[in-house]
Amino acid sequence: MKKKVGVLVSGRGSNLQALLDACADPVFPAEIVLVISNVPGVHALERAKRAGVATTVIPHKGFASREAFDAEMDKALRAAGVEIVCLAGFMRLLSAGFAEAWRERMINIHPALLPSFKGLHTHRRAIEAGVKLHGCTVHLVTPDLDDGPILVQKAVPVLAADDEDTLAARVLEQEHLAYPQALRLLAEGRVRVEGNRALIDDAPTDNA
Ligand code: GAR
Repeated sequence: MKKKVGVLVSGRGSNLQALLDACADPVFPAEIVLVISNVPGVHALERAKRAGVATTVIPHKGFASREAFDAEMDKALRAAGVEIVCLAGFMRLLSAGFAEAWRERMINIHPALLPSFKGLHTHRRAIEAGVKLHGCTVHLVTPDLDDGPILVQKAVPVLAADDEDTLAARVLEQEHLAYPQALRLLAEGRVRVEGNRALIDDAPTDNA
């Protein structure tokens, strides 16, 4: 049985597209059943519709608190039978309660090699810091921002001629490889958490 996935988005949706493309493979162990955006009209919603995936817009501005907004997302995810949540360019902080409710079943992609460069403007900060390697991280979500056990990382060189945009483009290519890989690991039940570490089992376990 394929694992049912819900994807939370806020914008362009290129990582959503990478996940949709991976899920189009009949042997991929997961299927996307719902895409939720907190922003109306974003391109990610078009991508979902084109792939025949259900979409819901839940504008965060309509809610009195972060908790109330997250509760609405939680309701929609559960109604769709979602088992794994992927944050794909979802630009809202999550409440601790939501993060706890989906602990070890929710993953995020971050455009930096964590634990370096948590937060925003990661590419600019990497160039300013003079690092020679930069990249992306897919990790399990915990209540702390851009924290949690790491599943997959991919590194790219930082070149002397790079600006924020050229570096972002090089990292984004790797994001599109890393995210489906990480979703596969989780969907196949190959992730074991020990403290801060995610240990990956070599062979798929029988978790059907
Ligand atoms: C991606 O680079 C993703 O890593 C980043 O936003 C971009 C979304 O692009 N996420 C964050 O910064 C989360 N803190 P996309 O909408 O084309 O996938």
